[in-house]
Amino acid sequence: MRKKPLRSRDWFFEKEYYAFARRAYLRSEGFHADIFADKPVIGIANSWSELNHCNRHLREVAEAVKRGVWKAGGVPLEFPTISLGEPFIKPTSMLLRNLMAMDVEECLRCYPLDGVVLLGGCDKTTPAQLMGAASADIPAIVVPGGPALTSYWKNQKLGSGTDGRKLYDLYRIGRITDEEWCELEGAIARSAGHCMVMGTASTMTSLAEALGMTLPGCASIPAPDSRRLAVAELSGARIVEMVQEDLRPSRILTREAFLNAITTLMALGGSTNAVIHLIAIAGRLGIKLELTEFDRISRRTPWLANVKPSGEFLMEDFFYAGGLPALMREILPLLEGSCLTVNGKTIAENYAAAPCWNRDVIRPLEAPLSGEGGIAVLYGNLCPRGAVIKQTAASPHLLRHRGRAFVFERYEEMKELIEREDLPVDENTVLVMKNCGPVGAPGFPEWGHIPMPKVLLERGIQDVVRISDARMSGTSFGTVVLHVAPESAIGGPLAAVRTGDEILLDVPERRLELLVEPEEIERRLAAFQPPPPHYRRGYGKLFLDHVTQADEGCDFDFLRPEPAPV
Ligand code: FES
Repeated sequence: MRKKPLRSRDWFFEKEYYAFARRAYLRSEGFHADIFADKPVIGIANSWSELNHCNRHLREVAEAVKRGVWKAGGVPLEFPTISLGEPFIKPTSMLLRNLMAMDVEECLRCYPLDGVVLLGGCDKTTPAQLMGAASADIPAIVVPGGPALTSYWKNQKLGSGTDGRKLYDLYRIGRITDEEWCELEGAIARSAGHCMVMGTASTMTSLAEALGMTLPGCASIPAPDSRRLAVAELSGARIVEMVQEDLRPSRILTREAFLNAITTLMALGGSTNAVIHLIAIAGRLGIKLELTEFDRISRRTPWLANVKPSGEFLMEDFFYAGGLPALMREILPLLEGSCLTVNGKTIAENYAAAPCWNRDVIRPLEAPLSGEGGIAVLYGNLCPRGAVIKQTAASPHLLRHRGRAFVFERYEEMKELIEREDLPVDENTVLVMKNCGPVGAPGFPEWGHIPMPKVLLERGIQDVVRISDARMSGTSFGTVVLHVAPESAIGGPLAAVRTGDEILLDVPERRLELLVEPEEIERRLAAFQPPPPHYRRGYGKLFLDHVTQADEGCDFDFLRPEPAPV
């Protein structure tokens, strides 16, 4: 039973000329007058774009959503938003995540919509849509595009991102020919859908489901699978009911729901980027997630999903094994089962009976891949506001390590030097890269997976400790410390590191320390000069002036909710 009048009626039935004009202009699209007969208007926020290969099938998905909306008695109206095609945006799609979130929020706020279906998939599109929907707070349901199909090359299964990077290292040292490299280019991303490893896209769409914002089982269905369209149709029908029930994001996205999402992230061995995105989404609802909360949950949550880059399999295997529902059933004892989801049922009701068909891919709670979750949070004099490491994708022998730093002052310097045969580094070196954070790069790019120096690859060394204030693609791997906060470009302690300094990384103890006398660190930081700003106008300037640090989710400070009136 509907709890309140439809919001869209304020646009179409106000006692003024413009109500008539809006009805007339909408009817110019060919609708009959009865579309205004007390029917919920459902927006379909579509991030389809030919500049976003991951989301290129979303127009077909939108058609399926429309079928569901019409069937349930609503009126579907599809509209475009910015789309963020991960590999195509320079310097980084993260620069535009907040812009897309603002686009989504303002479209939901300003158009005559009673509810919305959010169509995304590629990395930043899911968090941006969730941030916008959380702020606008009208009934919303997420339909992700789903992962792409498994790729094959020379009869090997390949996951885009992860395996592409591994093979690129072989190409760099001449073990893959130009012809083979060209062949691989045509094979590694063979269908619509987002990267088919547990990268940021698979992680964030899974977490949208764990938060309760998709229908159960929705996130893991491969993009080209017909069941993707079927669940889109069901989602279209369900959003109409959600409008009747006034089931808004603020009722679903509670603190407990976010804690469930963090637990799911750890059990998935998911992307480090999810830490930033979850903090940002929660922040839109006035919920503060501390990095210490992530670490507390990581320590108590076993890693169960054996999916690349941390594990062996790919998202298609994960789906056939039972997908996210099978994993959620496994971790139910660690979740708050009473959290509400978009289908009106609780997490426990949705997942209690989900079967698992392959225990190699989704491990049981009592036989995990690791006793702890994928992500560890580090603190120390090098990162007083925290840093993260994906310990499940790191080399076990480097998780406790002491070595001398080799410092790159900027990304461009790293690119210049990393191929040098005379780079003075060895297997104990700690590579440090500065000026790659939210302000420094700018936009917090995924540069943290510093390529292995060629000189080390030629010696057969696959991994060294790498530290930066950048992010890393969720598809990447290695002993890579990320999100050092505060960042070097605003005078964080990373700015004080010099080549030859000793650094201690101790992941089991959660420590990251610059082993230099405190007075010397202070002296160096007192002489710190910030680099000149990257932008003096436009959106870039807005970003630099208002972006928060990694531990605060990198949202804009002015997008936090307004304090309640006193
Ligand atoms: Fe879109 Fe990887 S490029 S998710």
